[in-house]
Amino acid sequence: MVEPKILFQASLDVGRELLRSPASRQEPDAPPKRVPVMVPIRSLGPSHRERIAQHLLSLDPQDRYLRFGYVASDEQIRRYSDGLNFERDEIFGIYNRKLELIAMAHLAFSTEADSKSCAEFGVSVLRASRSRGYGARLFDRAMMHASNEGVDLMFIHALSENTAMIKIARNAGAVIERDGSETEAHLRLPPATLDSRMTEMLEEQLAQTDYRLKAQAKNFYALLASLQEMRQGVRGAREKPGR
Ligand SMILES: CC(C)(COP(=O)(O)OP(=O)(O)OC[C@H]1O[C@@H](n2cnc3c(N)ncnc32)[C@H](O)[C@@H]1OP(=O)(O)O)[C@@H](O)C(=O)NCCC(=O)NCCS
Repeated sequence: MVEPKILFQASLDVGRELLRSPASRQEPDAPPKRVPVMVPIRSLGPSHRERIAQHLLSLDPQDRYLRFGYVASDEQIRRYSDGLNFERDEIFGIYNRKLELIAMAHLAFSTEADSKSCAEFGVSVLRASRSRGYGARLFDRAMMHASNEGVDLMFIHALSENTAMIKIARNAGAVIERDGSETEAHLRLPPATLDSRMTEMLEEQLAQTDYRLKAQAKNFYALLASLQEMRQGVRGAREKPGR
């Protein structure tokens, strides 16, 4: 569980990062940075449906195969995102400064009477944002949420070639069972505690604040850019010969 002082430090880091000008920030193709102590992971609702679809549509065929177990077509991805049930399931996301959904996870709760306390985890991280720990952080968050919701068994279906996903599950203590090209992992979750509930609440608050700050910073820089454009237009008109 994340300690409050770490959460506080993380919120300071988020604020400090947003105050830096875009020019001084890391380039998208720069080598991966060390992951901050805490990654703001927020719960997504129906208003994020289109961005979820865009995130999944931007996965290449190999990633679609790893994520869904088959090479999902654009139409199948649309159907999947249109059918997401935000009331029953939990969808988590990580947004970058441009408010692009760079990573998301779907925790699907079982509706079967005899497996009510089970949930299944699925995740995807955009290629440019991999190996920064986002996949593992989403898994941790989903574990905490599932346990807080009374789930005691979490399942992960992965293709056996999916080393990264299997590593995430194994690192978290899951039992891995390989059956040819497919692997199933299951993880027994600890019961919820006051600490796990408080931590989840704090993490969600921090992620919502981070999202609002990113939205404000994005609007602010868009406004600055349009002012700059207007200034250049006026200067250009003044400098035209014959004036
Ligand atoms: C699986 C996936 C979510 C991992 O995301 P990620 O953010 O890159 O993963 P992390 O950075 O948290 O790494 C998790 C672990 O996997 C390891 N790992 C990451 N990429 C790896 C790779 N290509 N090969 C082997 N191990 C890898 C990391 O070293 C780390 O292990 P460690 O903590 O023991 O060092 C991402 O590769 C992905 O989106 N794949 C396509 C969709 C998919 O496969 N979904 C899972 C099926 S539901």
